Formats: sequence, structure tokens, C-alpha cells
Amino acid sequence: MKEKTDVYISGSSFTEDEVKNKTVIVIDVLRAGSSILTALNNGAKGIIPVSDMAEASEMAQNLDSASYLLCGEKNGIKIDGYHLGNSPFEYEEKTVKAKTLILKTTNGTKAIDRCSGAERVLIGSFLNLSKVAEEVSNDDNEMVIICSGWRQRLSLEDMLCAGAILHRLNGKKIPADAPDGAKVAYSLYEKYASSILSTVRRSNHAARLVSLGFEKDIDYCCEIDRIPIIPELKDGMLKI
Ligand code: MLT
Repeated sequence: MKEKTDVYISGSSFTEDEVKNKTVIVIDVLRAGSSILTALNNGAKGIIPVSDMAEASEMAQNLDSASYLLCGEKNGIKIDGYHLGNSPFEYEEKTVKAKTLILKTTNGTKAIDRCSGAERVLIGSFLNLSKVAEEVSNDDNEMVIICSGWRQRLSLEDMLCAGAILHRLNGKKIPADAPDGAKVAYSLYEKYASSILSTVRRSNHAARLVSLGFEKDIDYCCEIDRIPIIPELKDGMLKI
């Protein structure tokens, strides 16, 4: 049981002190977390999450040009001059195998970066739902869930995924003294557990992605337990 687990609604809704020495699960269902899982599952060597393009260029300068790919989006669209955008379908084995990816996204990688003082930083998503819940249930650290959200605001799909993780950890009842963030996420999941995909399709970011032609990304990112691996941040790089 993880009675005290709190859920933060966006990547800027917590202080770095609030994650210090804790195990953090960062969620960005649409789409950074799902792309990270896909890339590592398809053989990427590691992923360096960065907050901005300047940091991405700086990282790239320290690497052999054949060994890395610059990846990421701005407002959902691939950044000019980058090798890949942020659709999980771009992270195929033939493209990413043995490469180091430098990834910059609007919210997800910023949230990950802000957790660097935590004891452990794990990536959670619908794609690895049961695996991430199992991993933290065996971890004695205090735990927090960070929903990346969208530009300092809440995203429905991230809160729903946080609720799904809590549901797997706490079973059918959330403790009465659980933090409010956890209660909200848990209740959201209880309401929509049987209709995850249709609920996520009605979210604001799903609408944005549909307008950009990424409708199939939404279906993919809502597949439960398709990729049972745990990306973890080690020395600034996400690896499995
Ligand atoms: C983000 O970090 O906000 C996203 O992953 C945006 C996206 O590419 O869908």
C-alpha cells in the first residue's frame, strides 16, 4: 500500500524539494512517456530528456554525430531540423536501435528534468501500467506521481493514468487520509475505468493531436500493458 502517495497535476505544480529522496513516476500519456517506452522497447540505447532546444544542442555537441538522434516537438509538431518528432510511430527499431536519443517535448521532458533530485525517476503510462505499479509496490521509498499536463495545467489523460496506477496499488479503496490529488485521480479512474480510450479521445490534447493528424497515436498510447518495461533515469539518461 502507498497510502501517502500524492499526485501533482502538472510538471510545474511541485517544488523540487517535494520530490527529493522519493520515488517519482512521471506520466505523459500523450505522448512523451509513450514515445519513450516505445523507443527503449525498440532498442534505443538511452534517452536524454531535455527542457529546451539550447540544452538539446549542447548535449548533441558532446556526442558523435552517428550515435544520436535529435527528437522532439513544439506544440505537437516536429522541431525543424530534428531527426524525429514525438509520435511513437516514428520510434521504430530500424530507426532507433543502439542510438542515443536527445528528446525535447513541450511538457513531458520538462517535468522529468524537474525531478532530477528524486531518489528514483520512473516513466509510467498506460503502455506499462501493471509493470510500473508492480515496480513501485516493491519500493520502500515515499512515492509521488507527477502528471506532466499541458502548459502548467491539468491533462485528463495523465490524471486518469495516475488513478489507474493508484487503483492497482490500493485495490478497491483509497485510504481516507490519502492526499486530495490522489483521491481526485483515483475517483476519475473509478468513473472511467471501463472506457479509457473513449475518455482520452475526448481530452483537450487528443483534440489537438487529431487536428495535427495524429489520431492513431491516441489509440496506441491508450493500449494497456503493451510494453511491460520500466524506463528509469540514471545519470540524466532514461534506460531500461
Ligand atoms: C508534451 O510533452 O507535452 C507532449 O508529449 C506533447 C506531444 O507531442 O503530444
